[in-house]
Amino acid sequence: MQMGEEIVSGKAKSIFRTDDPELFVLHFRDDTSAFDGERVEQLADKGKVNNIFNAYIMEKLAAAGIPTHFVRRLSDTDSLVKKLDMIPVECVVRNYAAGSLCKRYGIDEGIKITPPTFEFFLKNDELHDPMINDSHIISFGWAEPEHIEAMKTLTIKVNSILKQLFLDSNMLLVDYKLEFGLSNGELTLGDEFSPDGCRIWDKTTRNKMDKDRFRQKLGNVIETYKEVAQRLGIDLN
Ligand code: ADP
Ligand code: TMP
Ligand code: ASP
Repeated sequence: MQMGEEIVSGKAKSIFRTDDPELFVLHFRDDTSAFDGERVEQLADKGKVNNIFNAYIMEKLAAAGIPTHFVRRLSDTDSLVKKLDMIPVECVVRNYAAGSLCKRYGIDEGIKITPPTFEFFLKNDELHDPMINDSHIISFGWAEPEHIEAMKTLTIKVNSILKQLFLDSNMLLVDYKLEFGLSNGELTLGDEFSPDGCRIWDKTTRNKMDKDRFRQKLGNVIETYKEVAQRLGIDLN
């Protein structure tokens, strides 16, 4: 697979063309960003850990019938993915209260949310990813109505698969963010699933095991990501 020019340099990953116009290389860097790019630091090994973690989760999801962009891992930090026309919205499901939900509604962190909530956010750093609803997505043409429904259905299906996966290793999947795009008209899960884009707590101690360690300056960020991987049985070598 020939790697071509870099066409996207995001806050934590880069995308490169390949000799196949339908395939991209997704390159995971060590850059770690919080608060919509306000704070960026390099954390050794993060690109590798997230790339291997994401490959494991994407394969689990594909095996359970979720259409994903993931093709295969190319190296420690690179994966081959299908080119998607990305939909500029973020889909968030929450099983326990944390983060912006607590601030927005004055809810105590840690309360179990039954049934889990589903929220859309506009992917726009300058605007700090404001929450949006179906009506905004339709009226401003960010996605087609059938894709709105499919994003909800797939994001909630991902919850049933991953909640149990983490629970089996004594961890709670608190919340997570997914991004979708279109591949030949088919709604497809893109981007990544790693401790950067979700919240994971130890089930017994409720110790934070995700990017909140970086946001809240709790330390041992990558050591803890590695522990999550190790508990799930992911081989990082
Ligand atoms: P951010 O956009 O938040 O800075 P990243 O650093 O993770 O994020 O950059 C990755 C970029 O690549 C994001 O804009 C994401 O939407 C986009 N992307 C992810 N998967 C694909 C794909 N398969 N095809 C095209 N773009 C993708
Ligand atoms: P929030 O509590 O800040 O709204 O975040 C909810 C979840 O979505 C949390 O797991 C972090 C994730 N997320 C991202 O990965 N990227 C983002 O830009 C946002 C807003 C949230
Ligand atoms: N994903 C956003 C960023 O990387 C927001 C966050 O994680 O705090 O800046």
